[in-house]
Amino acid sequence: MINIAVMGYGTVGGGVVEVINTNHESINKRVGEEINIKYVLDLRDFPGDPAEHLIIHDFEQIVNDPEVKIVVETMGGLEPAHTFVKRCLEAGKSVATSNKALVAKFGVELMEIAKAKNINFLFEASCGGGIPIIRPLNSSLTADEIDEITGILNGTTNYMMTKMSMEGAEFDDVLKDAQAKGYAEADPTADIEGHDACRKIAILSSLAFGQFVDFEEIYTEGITKITAVDMEYAREMGQTIKLLGTSRRVEDGFYAMVAPFLIGPESPLYSVNDVFNAIFVHGNVLGDAMFYGSGAGKLPTASAVVGDVVDAARHMHCTIMNNWSSGKLELMSTDDVQARFFVRIQGSQAEMLEAVKAEMGDCEAIALENHPEEFAVVTPVMSEKEYKAHGEKLGDKILGMIRVKL
Ligand code: HSE
Repeated sequence: MINIAVMGYGTVGGGVVEVINTNHESINKRVGEEINIKYVLDLRDFPGDPAEHLIIHDFEQIVNDPEVKIVVETMGGLEPAHTFVKRCLEAGKSVATSNKALVAKFGVELMEIAKAKNINFLFEASCGGGIPIIRPLNSSLTADEIDEITGILNGTTNYMMTKMSMEGAEFDDVLKDAQAKGYAEADPTADIEGHDACRKIAILSSLAFGQFVDFEEIYTEGITKITAVDMEYAREMGQTIKLLGTSRRVEDGFYAMVAPFLIGPESPLYSVNDVFNAIFVHGNVLGDAMFYGSGAGKLPTASAVVGDVVDAARHMHCTIMNNWSSGKLELMSTDDVQARFFVRIQGSQAEMLEAVKAEMGDCEAIALENHPEEFAVVTPVMSEKEYKAHGEKLGDKILGMIRVKL
């Protein structure tokens, strides 16, 4: 029998207990031993809950119990999650976590402790919820030099973008709807400002490129400025707008970015709708691959956590290798990243287009019949620095800008 403890009995922690109880026979068969939940740590009591008898309030009981071999961390946030996870690993217990903030900030340190102890620190659920992506990056795509990883990594914002695109809804209304459906947090800042996607692309990039990518160095822009009129333009161009986390190996180095992008039907990410997530990977020998599925929610995320528990149980005294070294990947300056820019301009096309072309180069123009007071252009490829310089010259004539996915 392998005893485990679950720290944090919220949505995902509750899902972990439910998955282990529901599928205990098949899970035990896959491990070759029984997985037994010995403790569930939470500040709260849960009278009447099936796990009531497992609830404890004192972390010391877990870390000091030599019978506990694997610990699940589903508390979220940095503290006390970091202290608890570190102490569990130092005590020789493998850890499976869904906590992207913890992995993005302390992943290197925690993996090094696990390695020194011949145990595991696993985090499949930290990116893309139930979608297997960490394990494929670690063990399936090892023949490739990965040159792009781009994902729809946040279910809440993808739900919002889908509603805005398909129903012409306004940002504030779809946010309220996402909150009512329980997709967005009560404070949805981390979702809509891109912070959640930023941590996820930092983790995926670190694994894909083999060196630590610091999430604090990733240019991050959320979806708060996207309007129903932007979506009308997107539709007019046969495209849509998605919040993407993207990192690429280009001639001058590596870049990573989180921002809303215009994408067309030629991209496999175009049809990823509602709360679904998808991660597109391009490898130099593989070509294209995409991983698609339920990127958030109780049971999909718990499925990934329990998969890690099974893997940890199968590798009790052996660290599963990964490709993430402690060396830091220096990202290119965002100023040097090349893109095409969709720019909305105040004024009529007849009056303004020549002046815009004189500044931005040979742009394509798009006009909406119901908005004669403005038009839009898509620029040729240029660097962010060049765009900024041209944009400054046009000043307050620019109503908004969205990057176009290359
Ligand atoms: N708030 C996140 C999302 C949860 O909407 O994708 C999963 O990380």
